[in-house]
Amino acid sequence: MTYAVVYASATGNTKLLAEEIRKGLGEEECICFGTAEEAETAAEADIIFAGFWTDKGNCSGELGQFLEGLHGRKVFLFGTAGFGGAQSYFDQILERVKGHLTADNEVVGTYMCQGKMSQSVRKRYEGMLEQNPGDERIKGMIENFDRALQHPDEADLKALRETVSRVL
Ligand SMILES: Cc1cc2nc3c(=O)[nH]c(=O)nc-3n(C[C@H](O)[C@H](O)[C@H](O)COP(=O)(O)O)c2cc1C
Repeated sequence: MTYAVVYASATGNTKLLAEEIRKGLGEEECICFGTAEEAETAAEADIIFAGFWTDKGNCSGELGQFLEGLHGRKVFLFGTAGFGGAQSYFDQILERVKGHLTADNEVVGTYMCQGKMSQSVRKRYEGMLEQNPGDERIKGMIENFDRALQHPDEADLKALRETVSRVL
């Protein structure tokens, strides 16, 4: 079985997942590992692991375009998002990302976890809290931000390895 890992990762979280997949499956059968721009040979693989960072509830544009170009492939989608804690949230994002695939592809598995965000986001939340002192929703966003700083963590990577090995 050959495989490809194609990912978009602006700040490195999703790249960690991509590397974990390759570590788990070994380099021998990996025919392509890289970003969507580097992925010419990926479509020849038996299974394509496509990784995305969540950009406004969807995958980023270049990964979406890559998915739109796939036909008749087995695809495993993986990604990271700043907001964690609820699989239902991840599922909504995954449904949108699946929307980039034509119906002749088969999604053989999915995995998502939380990923840390840049400090500028926390600064923005802090500014919002200053404007609205005590606002529970904003406090929750700051708490989420702080939790995200730990992710992807070892437990996330282990869960990814397990999900991948169940699919294969
Ligand atoms: C412009 C922008 C938009 C984002 N939109 C979302 C979003 O809609 N939902 C979410 O949960 N996280 C969102 N995030 C957070 C990132 O998806 C998250 O930090 C991710 O782990 C980044 O992955 P990377 O390090 O592979 O780039 C956004 C981040 C940026 C910079």
